[in-house]
Amino acid sequence: MSVQSDTNVMTLQFSSRSENEAFARVAVAAFVSQLDPTMDELTDMKTVISEAVTNCIIHGYDNDPTGMVTISAVISGEEIMLTVSDNGRGIEDLELARQPLYTSKPDMERSGMGFTIMENFMDECEVTTELGVGTSIRMKKRIESKKALYN
Ligand SMILES: Nc1ncnc2c1ncn2[C@@H]1O[C@H](COP(=O)(O)OP(=O)(O)O)[C@@H](O)[C@H]1O
Ligand SMILES: [Mg+2]
Repeated sequence: MSVQSDTNVMTLQFSSRSENEAFARVAVAAFVSQLDPTMDELTDMKTVISEAVTNCIIHGYDNDPTGMVTISAVISGEEIMLTVSDNGRGIEDLELARQPLYTSKPDMERSGMGFTIMENFMDECEVTTELGVGTSIRMKKRIESKKALYN
């Protein structure tokens, strides 16, 4: 794979196990730290990673630990793009799924706020999904605190 000279890319792939959620948060935070984000920005990024990874595990794979979750992160200038994907069940009604407070697992004490949090904490949040194929969520955020790297 070749990338443009002003971008820095990383990919992580791990088993669909809830214990890997903490690993994903820390790994992404460490990578993003190169942009010298504020504590608030870093916390936001960790939170959206948690929400997206949890969704892959409990919704995409229904807690089946044989599934794989993939995260990719791209730093480009002052911007970070995070993509979190699964090859799980997919989402039947995306518009409904993205509504605040909607959850398909109310019995599991889900808050239904995952998508809302991701939309609010990031500048852009785009979801692609196909039933029986999987779901991919792509989020972008401009890190304000520092000037661009890799120029
Ligand atoms: N990766 C995914 N695969 C399948 N369904 C998903 C995925 N992510 C989200 N969903 C669906 O979207 C709904 C809303 O997600 P979210 O806002 O995070 O709320 P919650 O996780 O609390 O249910 C979920 O209840 C689920 O039905
Ligand atoms: Mg959720």
